[in-house]
Amino acid sequence: MISATCVAPVNIALIKYWGKRHEDLILPVNDSISMTLSTDELCAKTTVTASESFETNRMWLNGEEVPFEGSPRLQRCLKEVHRLAVANGSQKVPPSWKIHIASVNNFPTAAGLASSAAGYACLVYSLSRLYDIPLNEELTTVARQGSGSACRSLYGGFVQWHRGALDDGSDSVAKQIAPSSHWPNMHVLILVVNDERKKTASTKGMQQAVKTSQLIKHRVDKVVPERITQLREAIANHDFQTFAEITMKDSNQFHAIALDTFPPCVYMNDVSHRIVSFIHDYNEIMGGYHAAYTFDAGPNACLYVLEENVPHLLDAIQKVFPSDSFDSDTYLRGLSVPKV
Ligand code: DP6
Repeated sequence: MISATCVAPVNIALIKYWGKRHEDLILPVNDSISMTLSTDELCAKTTVTASESFETNRMWLNGEEVPFEGSPRLQRCLKEVHRLAVANGSQKVPPSWKIHIASVNNFPTAAGLASSAAGYACLVYSLSRLYDIPLNEELTTVARQGSGSACRSLYGGFVQWHRGALDDGSDSVAKQIAPSSHWPNMHVLILVVNDERKKTASTKGMQQAVKTSQLIKHRVDKVVPERITQLREAIANHDFQTFAEITMKDSNQFHAIALDTFPPCVYMNDVSHRIVSFIHDYNEIMGGYHAAYTFDAGPNACLYVLEENVPHLLDAIQKVFPSDSFDSDTYLRGLSVPKV
């Protein structure tokens, strides 16, 4: 019997991935950029065990068994790991041995807090340790086939997932733009507005968007390529003003496309919209961007703020929003710096 245990952090997209050009290989219609959070707050932890005596592959998520054979994404990841093990000449685990996977995460599953990103990144990284495969760009293509956004969680700091052009997806990889040490005073504050499972899962929501939204084409062709260049420059120059503006605009455009989908996907709620207004008012009073918001496929807010401005922002949030605006008393969880 042989085991490996790993922890993988959540990443939050600044320029969103939304829409696939290939469903099974999980190839995106556009590049995306994210920031990986520290593993202290929001993360997945996975133990993978291989044994000669296991009869079947099995998996448990937060203590409950989930069907392994019924998940094509899990099977594809395992198949790809076996392929890489052979390519790397690794003989640590005989290919006939079955595996057991036990994964836990410390944040709401499927509530739009990038749980699948951390989950699949953690699974693929644990498998790579077990099978003795190096962490490199090729491994990000395996995590990508578990859940698109997962490929970005294999690296810390600021990460770009390149859309790629090849049909086999081999150039659709994640690459680190800068480690977290590049911008160490960048913090994220997560406001958990609602921790229920989202109504339309990302996979389905983006499928419908590609089929029905007229705005998505404009986003993919015209908007994202320009934003990627500008955001990379803003990160390189520690330019919070540009960083904040692009991040907020991209979140708004992603939700506009969700609404342009037919039938529409509504991920934000009234509290989310109040947070958006609050951040704009706050920035106006402060005379520049001191905080930026972004919302994934759910109502929860991720706020980017520089460390020196955290106490002031927190104070303002607590004055403006009574604590029952948020679903739980853990609404200030995840005050994190990204990790290398
Ligand atoms: C809004 O990676 O969860 O968080 O590839 O179908 O598993 P699948 O989708 P997923 O989508 C994430 C969408 C997003 C934006 C992002 O993280 O870039």
